[in-house]
Order: sequence, then structure tokens, then C-alpha cells
Amino acid sequence: MKKRCLVVTGGGDCPGLNAVIRAIVKRASAESDWDIIGSRNAFNGVLLDPMEIIELDQSTVAGIHVRGGTILGTTNKGGPFAWPIQDNDGNWSEVDRSAEMLRKLEFLNVKAVINIGGDGSQMISQKLFDMGCNIIGVPKTIDNDLGVTNITFGFPTAVEVATDAVDKLVTTAESHNRILILEVMGRNAGWIALHSAVAGGAEVCLIPEIKYDINMVKERIDSRIQNSRGFVNIVISEGAKSINGEQQFQENPEFGHHNARLGGAGIQLMHELQTAGVDTDIRVTILGHLQRGGKPIAYDRILATQFGVKAFEMVLDKDFGNMAALCDGKLVSVPISDAIEKYNYVDLNSDLIKTARDIDICFGD
Ligand code: F6P
Repeated sequence: MKKRCLVVTGGGDCPGLNAVIRAIVKRASAESDWDIIGSRNAFNGVLLDPMEIIELDQSTVAGIHVRGGTILGTTNKGGPFAWPIQDNDGNWSEVDRSAEMLRKLEFLNVKAVINIGGDGSQMISQKLFDMGCNIIGVPKTIDNDLGVTNITFGFPTAVEVATDAVDKLVTTAESHNRILILEVMGRNAGWIALHSAVAGGAEVCLIPEIKYDINMVKERIDSRIQNSRGFVNIVISEGAKSINGEQQFQENPEFGHHNARLGGAGIQLMHELQTAGVDTDIRVTILGHLQRGGKPIAYDRILATQFGVKAFEMVLDKDFGNMAALCDGKLVSVPISDAIEKYNYVDLNSDLIKTARDIDICFGD
């Protein structure tokens, strides 16, 4: 019987997931003793009864590299260590089904697992590895917040979408002489905001790594409006907050979400500016999941393909407990534990922050 490698996509989706899956299957097709299978909706496909497992072969993955989302489905709820169950009174709780899941993998003749996901998914990978599972990680997230690797696939496409939004907002801001605020995703890292603000030419960029002083933002707006142009474009990360304020969150009534849901930073900024005395018209756009949907740009397809091939070669090398990564332009294998330990914040001493400051982008500090 052939050995089986299980592929899983976990956490929030992002452009490029299908390109990774396709690359794994294509590389594995050169190895006569391996079959590739996928679990539906992260590990839930293995945990369900009956199991939801998909055979992945060349015909299943043909042409999928250009498609957004993931053909396997994904979820950021549940999982082997926190499986939600509801009692007769309707109350939810979580149970650990990891040992049972490993037994199911043995039954399926799974000799290796490739887990494509961000920090939450790689924390699951590490725990499974500690229990003896032959697991490899592939870094995915639009947030680019995973440590060690220089970049995660999905981020470049999200930057492209956000930059396109800035470009569009600039023209309408200019027509109406307004202040237009664009709230972008990124969780506690300001990568998407920083890149799209520089690429799109925003005047103000507010990121979680720099708490903003509303008076500094107002000063920048006033000087621009008085001295030259009558409009201002601001890009703000969903995780940004002022020196006196808190991050803004949305209600999340569904049970099982382990990450608090950020959202509302743009509206909060508008209120703060109005309270500080800004009387120019302000409008807020929340870009939301547009940043995660749709087809990956060419660079994401290439990066995802490279990660997929590398991940399967790590399986062949029995390089378990490690994650494919791009470091200094080279495809390498790094410990999953390092990637989840080091959250990838924007480096405030980086060249890009300097460039942004040098072209007069205000960070509110
Ligand atoms: O981690 C990716 C991400 O898109 C974040 O930028 C955002 O905060 C979060 O996921 C949104 O999650 P959900 O899809 O559950 O609303």
C-alpha cells in the first residue's frame, strides 16, 4: 500500500492556497510510493464521522493555482485540541480529540502531514509534532506576521488589493476635498497598511506598532489642507490604536473562535479627529475580506508553488517539525517553534519605515 501524505489548509483563507496544494501534488507525482489526500475544513475532515477526505491527484488540482480560496475548505474554529461540543442545555464547551485524531491518521495510513496555515495553525502543528506526528508547516497569511520567514504568501496579493483601494480613494478624495480613511486588515502587524500607504501615496499611515497621537495626525491634516491640497488619504491598520485609546473589536457571537475579531479602528479615528476639531468631511472605507478573496497575483502563485514543492521535499527528507520558509531569498526549512515564537512586527528601524517618513508620510508620532 502506498504511503499517504495528508494536506490541510487551516485558519483564514488567503490567495495562493490552491497553488500550494497543486505544487505538492505535482511534486509528489514523481514519487511512486506516495499518495496525496486532503482533509476538508482543516483537520475537521479527519475528526468528523464519517471522515471527509479528498483524494488529490493531477486531475483534481489541474489549473487551481489561479483560483482564490482553497479547494479543501478551511476554518478557524474547532480543531483537534479544541473540538466544540454542545450539551443538552445548548451550552458549548471544547474537548481535546488530538490523540483520537492521531489514531485516525494511522488508520488512514498517513505517514506525513503538511499543514498550510498561519500562526494559529502552526501552533496546532507544533503540538501535534510534540505528540509524535510527522508534520511539516507551510506559512500562509495576508498579515505577514509569522516569524522567521521573510514573507508569507497571500500578503503580496492583499497589498495589491489595498493599494488599488488607496488609488481609487485618492481620486474621490481629491474630487470632494475630503479626508478618506481606509481601514485594512493585518491583525497586530502593520504590514498591509505600510506597504499600501507607500505604494498608493497616502499622507497618513497608522499601524499597531506605533501608537498615534491624534494631535499629530490633526497637525498633518491641517498643514496639508492649509498649505496645498484640500484632501487627505489615511490608511489605518485594524489593530492600530492611539496613545490614549484601545484596539477596536467586533462582536463575535460564534463559539470556538480563538482570535478576538478586530475592526472599527477607522470609525474610531474619524470620531477622534472630529473631537479634536477637524471639520473637513471624513468618510471611512473598511476593506475587509476583499483583501483575502480572489485570485493570487503572479508573485503569490510563484511563492506558494515554491513552498508546496519545498514542503513535499521536506516530507521525503523526514524533516518533520519544521516549516518551509523564505529567508534572505532562499527556500529553507526552519523550526515551527521559532516561527510561532517570533511574531513578525513591522521593524520601526527598517528601510521602508525610513522611506515612508522621508516622503512625508505621517505615522501619528
Ligand atoms: O489573519 C487574517 C485575517 O484576515 C486578519 O487580517 C483579520 O483580522 C482576520 O483574519 C479576520 O478573520 P475572520 O475571517 O474570522 O473575520
